[in-house]
Amino acid sequence: MGDGLTIQPLTACIGAEVGGVDLADVDDVTFDALHKAFLDHKVLFFRDQHLSVEEHIEFGRRWGELEIHPFAREGAAPEIVQIESTADQPYAASNWHSDVTWRECPSLGSILRARVVPPAGGDTLWADACAAYDRLGDEWHDRLDGLTASHDWLKVFGRRLSEEEREASREQHPVVHHPVVRTHPETGAKGIYTNRSFVTHVDDVEADESEEILERLERAIMDPNVQCRFRWQTDSIAFWDNRCTQHFATNDFWPETRIVERVTVIGDTPY
Ligand code: SIN
Repeated sequence: MGDGLTIQPLTACIGAEVGGVDLADVDDVTFDALHKAFLDHKVLFFRDQHLSVEEHIEFGRRWGELEIHPFAREGAAPEIVQIESTADQPYAASNWHSDVTWRECPSLGSILRARVVPPAGGDTLWADACAAYDRLGDEWHDRLDGLTASHDWLKVFGRRLSEEEREASREQHPVVHHPVVRTHPETGAKGIYTNRSFVTHVDDVEADESEEILERLERAIMDPNVQCRFRWQTDSIAFWDNRCTQHFATNDFWPETRIVERVTVIGDTPY
């Protein structure tokens, strides 16, 4: 483990608070320890990380190529997605989802930094998609085996675009199909990989069967026994694995302001 690094799990399956590290200055030994902790705990939390925009981006680049999000609001750099909620324009990603699943190569992980935190509320929750899958049991495992689902950016981002922009974006970003149960490329663990934000339907089954499957999988993710919850402070950072978790931002702080900034690392094609 990197010198002085502390890892305090939040639950047995998901989440750990990491201390004794400055994310602006991560040597190779510390990087390896963080990588192991990331795979073990699926979402890591860091406090008091006073990173510049460049350092935030640089930390993201240690993990892979970065996403330039075509639909989200750009922050201080093209690699930064700014998620802002104010009294006049309240917004929170209050749906269980994994980031960018509408890409052929969706996200490996997201690194979210809190800029402005409301005095109360605004927590984010994460669910362990592998623990949720395990709890479904053998019958469901057999039923889900080999199924794929359609993921479409239009469900979330379509309403921000004109008809013309939607058509142009559709050409650039066609509907993609990913396995309903994804195998983690590094740990080999299987986890639920459908979410209500981007999945339109399970492929090649009747509409009512698709709905039954999506509803059951969403319920599995919504189980508090596979979740952890994080209370933000200014300059807290959460770094989560989008390949095996889903998250939900609470919408419970209006009319206060909440501003967070996300760097999103690109992953590989799910299998
Ligand atoms: C996200 O969905 O990437 C952002 C989560 C949050 O605002 O806490």
